[in-house]
Amino acid sequence: MKPIAMPSPSISRSTNNFVDVSRPRLTSDLLENTPPYHVAAGVPEALAAFRAPERLGFGAVAAPVMYRVDWRDGAWQRGALEPYGPIQILPGARALQYAELVFEGMKAYRVGHATANLFRPRDNWLRFARSAQRLSMPVVPESLFLQAIDAVVGTCLEIIPRESGRALYLRPFLFGTEAGYLLRNSTTFSFMVIANPVEPYAAGPMRVAIERGDVRAAVGGVGAAKTAANYAASLRASTAAVLRGMTVALWLDAREQRFIQELSGMNLFAVIDGALHTPALDGAILPGITRDSLLSLGRHLGYAVIERSMPIDELLAQIVSGECSEVLACGTAATVSPIAVLEDAEPRTPSRDSNRVGREYAPRQVDRVAAQLREALLAIQERRAPDPFGWTRDVPVLTG
Ligand code: COI
Repeated sequence: MKPIAMPSPSISRSTNNFVDVSRPRLTSDLLENTPPYHVAAGVPEALAAFRAPERLGFGAVAAPVMYRVDWRDGAWQRGALEPYGPIQILPGARALQYAELVFEGMKAYRVGHATANLFRPRDNWLRFARSAQRLSMPVVPESLFLQAIDAVVGTCLEIIPRESGRALYLRPFLFGTEAGYLLRNSTTFSFMVIANPVEPYAAGPMRVAIERGDVRAAVGGVGAAKTAANYAASLRASTAAVLRGMTVALWLDAREQRFIQELSGMNLFAVIDGALHTPALDGAILPGITRDSLLSLGRHLGYAVIERSMPIDELLAQIVSGECSEVLACGTAATVSPIAVLEDAEPRTPSRDSNRVGREYAPRQVDRVAAQLREALLAIQERRAPDPFGWTRDVPVLTG
């Protein structure tokens, strides 16, 4: 089968903070010629052997299949659905040496329906394309991205959790496979999709540690791209926070360490005088699809919704005065999670110090607005309520 050369899409800024990736020129001819993926030996057996434990955790249980397609000679090759397992990669591959890797996080739902559905998959593809372009990696065409997602979800239909709040988490990722230390991009890449049946990311109200030492991302860097390097930069503070009994670290801007950015895997909202406030995207914050959904959903539910620069000290003062009644976090993994406490570990101590104790700020309300937003969002995601925004997309049932 002849591989298909995909033109690089041009990317420009759009008004909704997502990037408008003008569609790769997928003429109907190109679409019809998209090579069907190969189903490797062992897939039916892997599926039949899969048993999910009662406690799923988040990423602890791997779905039994994965999708892989390679890029070489400037073209995407034929994809394959394979049993989940170790992959071969050269130790010198740029993905390993220089973190040449971008990824996405999305969920497939199957609550009360025979079929599965996705939530805003095109927005995941758009962000994936933008992340790839930030690292000057080839863009995975939308049709190929969806082919891979549909293949994994369709094959895993019977292992998608049926309980509300649980889902099949999908992790598409693209990485450079060429070995070499020269500081330029790989010329060969792999795009893969793995999946995990999951529970919500955080169980119960979260304890957030304000990070005043390390910095996650600076404007002009790669903070707005979903690339492994951002998460690597966050791990020291996140681990230290967890060792102190906290749930996650809260990041501040790199220049002044004054303005709230995000929580690595989540974006933050505060309820101030009844309105929903969230940090405006500053070029270093990851533009969360759940964040964007809450902006629309919040307005739909009658909230005033305000995106602005949010100084951390102002928010802490507003929690003390009661002007800020509630703080919450959102993300694909987290859905909408309540925050019980923000801990400020002044004076500034290195984040590796796991013994430090800081002042705690507890908003007077926990999981009231968060619960309302979570239920409204989940009801749409799980197709329990009408979807006035057109966010859900059914996954085609696999035949044959
Ligand atoms: C997601 O919500 O998809 C993320 O990537 C967050 C990650 C920390 C699980």
